[in-house]
Amino acid sequence: MSGHGDPRPMRAERGGALSGEAHVPGDKSISHRSLILGALSVGETRIRGLLEGEDVLATAAAMRAFGAEVTRDDAGEWHVHGVGVGGFGEPEDVIDCGNAGTGVRLIMGAMATSPITATFTGDASLRSRPMGRVTDPLALFGAKAHGRTGGRLPMTIVGASSPVPARYTLPMASAQVKSAVLLAGLNAPGETVVIETEATRDHTERMLAGFGAAVRVEDTNEGRVITLTGQPELRPQSIDVPRDPSSAAFPVAAALIVEGSDVLVPNIGLNPTRAGLYETLRDMGADLTYENIRDEGGEPVADLRARYSPDMVGIEVPPERAASMIDEYPILSVVAANARGRTSMHGVKELRVKESDRIDAMAVGLRAAGVTVDEGPDWWEVEGMGAGGVPGGATVEARLDHRIAMSFLCLGMASQKPVTVDDAAPIATSFPIFTGLMTGLGARLT
Ligand code: S3P
Repeated sequence: MSGHGDPRPMRAERGGALSGEAHVPGDKSISHRSLILGALSVGETRIRGLLEGEDVLATAAAMRAFGAEVTRDDAGEWHVHGVGVGGFGEPEDVIDCGNAGTGVRLIMGAMATSPITATFTGDASLRSRPMGRVTDPLALFGAKAHGRTGGRLPMTIVGASSPVPARYTLPMASAQVKSAVLLAGLNAPGETVVIETEATRDHTERMLAGFGAAVRVEDTNEGRVITLTGQPELRPQSIDVPRDPSSAAFPVAAALIVEGSDVLVPNIGLNPTRAGLYETLRDMGADLTYENIRDEGGEPVADLRARYSPDMVGIEVPPERAASMIDEYPILSVVAANARGRTSMHGVKELRVKESDRIDAMAVGLRAAGVTVDEGPDWWEVEGMGAGGVPGGATVEARLDHRIAMSFLCLGMASQKPVTVDDAAPIATSFPIFTGLMTGLGARLT
């Protein structure tokens, strides 16, 4: 799990229009949480539409290692027999979370208030990412962390044997850190409080409430205050995982920039904490419509229709929108390169600590493809070259980052000369059917 084997280069070149329907996989964030909350419930949780990508499969394996029974039936439904809050057993071996920051950080939170010890590792990308942002608040509950210098994996967490609840204000906009604290709070007596000054994706709060925990969310002068009452008995659920808006971004963006395209991407969750990219594309003049808008399980859902949009213009992306589209800046920069004028993206320093430094990875690759990019510590700007104006003709590094690989392949579908990524293997972490889905729409990927 902690590597992707031999690099698999992939080349994208301009072909005909993209058309048809793109059925993207289940939401990665909700898939991780479904497995973890299922494992912390008493009884059987059933999950339909789980994302069967490497990241989520690593979380399924981890839940087994902590004692839950996790199986998949022939119809593709997943069954989790949970051990209850406080019921995690000590894993016999190292927990390998592969490429998954969400997986490792949420699981660390979920085990930190049980009297067990677990050691975590991951691939080269995950081993380079900061874990102190999670272990600092977990220490407030009484958990101890021993990792490599700089708070990197491999890392051992010694769970608190007499946990106390915590009150924590997030120092950065991170749903992973918020979720780790809330999951730790589950097995602490009394009320755990997390305060966020910028709203981040709220799946953990919503799902905890759905599983029967007492969760209160209040908007105050301090920010968004989330209060969880510890030691609930979580009730197992039947979950339909919505399709991932972050994966939908790739067929949508490709349709906007490939001449003549018209693509429908059905059943996409448009939770406002996730839908910032689509607002931004519409602000740029994209021909992107929401069809069949409806409510599913308390979340807004729509079919997205994206048509070739040769008249898009660069904009200043509102920084307050950053958290709601944080994973979508790489693909936005590809659309921006195909728009007229400059697109500025500010307040985005979190991009530097994702699966790769996403500002640097995109800037280096876009420049190699002939696009002008300026950058600073927490901002970057892309000079648009107009529809079909990107020269391309470059081989770029994916840096073990699925979204970087998919973004550059979409760039190659619209640029004058092909774009090759050195390794497309990481795409399997979040979107294992990407290549087949895109070639099914008419893309040329080899
Ligand atoms: C996620 C939160 C975000 C996002 C990641 C998924 C989650 O990370 O980038 O892909 O499911 O909670 P941060 O919490 O680091 O912003």
